[in-house]
Amino acid sequence: MYTITLIPGDGIGPSIMEAAVQVIEATGVRIEWDRQLAGMAAVDKCSNPLPDATLESIKRNRLCYKGPLTTPVGGGFRSINVTLRQEFNLYANVRPALSFEGAETAFKNVNMVTIRENTEGLYAGIEHFIKVDEEKIAAESVAIVTRKGSERIIEYAFEYARKAQRKKVTLVHKANILKCTSGLFLEIGRDIAKKYPDIEFDDRIVDACAMRMVMDPSEFDVVVTTNLFGDILSDLAAGLIGGLGLTAGANIGTSAALFEAVHGSAPDIADKGIANPTATIMAGVMMLEHLGEPAAARQIERAVRAVIARGERLTPDLKKGSPYGTRDIAAAIIEQMGA
Ligand code: NAI
Repeated sequence: MYTITLIPGDGIGPSIMEAAVQVIEATGVRIEWDRQLAGMAAVDKCSNPLPDATLESIKRNRLCYKGPLTTPVGGGFRSINVTLRQEFNLYANVRPALSFEGAETAFKNVNMVTIRENTEGLYAGIEHFIKVDEEKIAAESVAIVTRKGSERIIEYAFEYARKAQRKKVTLVHKANILKCTSGLFLEIGRDIAKKYPDIEFDDRIVDACAMRMVMDPSEFDVVVTTNLFGDILSDLAAGLIGGLGLTAGANIGTSAALFEAVHGSAPDIADKGIANPTATIMAGVMMLEHLGEPAAARQIERAVRAVIARGERLTPDLKKGSPYGTRDIAAAIIEQMGA
């Protein structure tokens, strides 16, 4: 029996998490869900977007399955996602992008994994306004790239490639302009690559990399990069396989691991019952793999892929005009698992 902290999240979160929990439970793997609040749901209930009880629960269980959280734009509280990453040192954000048969996309052969440094870079949270007479005349954000943080994420990428029997690691940077932050990351990457002669290594400048990804994604296998570039490129990769509704991510740290969909709380479709739970279910697949339950993970992934390939009972984001919703696609996946 595993105990996992479950955060339903905001907007579409509770409905897609409920659907995903049903799918995971259909594998027979025994999980006790330790339900906790965060985000707007927690603000409404206890005036704190990240209650101590939630932090304690993740500390205890070291595993968290999380729905999307709404972050106020501009003012308001700091992103809980960023806070959780820093609190639990969730340094590696791992996002596989593998084409789904049946999803309407430009390419059918995408099979890459983006590994994004999750705690440093421009998202280190060191920023401020410069004011003259209360007028904001400038703003500064500081990018932090440390040797330790870079070694840790690049080594993770090579180890991941080895374990997943992948052939190549591509390091993405902007070292021609950002000579210090990106320059250090690249220098460390080149050194670490020498320790992995069995894995091909190359590096790309981020802008050219974005262009190549949309021209021929088959050039990419494992991609490792700093926080901001990884944020953008992993969404680009999500677009290549059919959008945010299909893409999942794992946040792996030294003291905990957190699994979630790549998309946000989708306030525009909240309460309509039409949100696609697939990305959250695929995050569950990654979580089962992490737990050492590969058979259950494969059972779900096979069923998800079969349901999407068949093209029936899909949510409208996958099939325009479809009358089916979150519960229908989850039911179709569970039926397929038993087939
Ligand atoms: P979003 O990902 O919530 O939505 C973008 C578009 O994709 C919307 O049109 C939405 O309807 C659609 N969409 C997203 N997920 C879908 C799903 N499962 N099924 C069908 N359609 C789906 O991004 P947006 O609107 O920029 O952000 C909304 C809120 O979510 C913001 O407060 C943002 O900060 C937060 N957010 C939270 C994340 C997290 O908790 N990991 C990640 C990204 C955003």
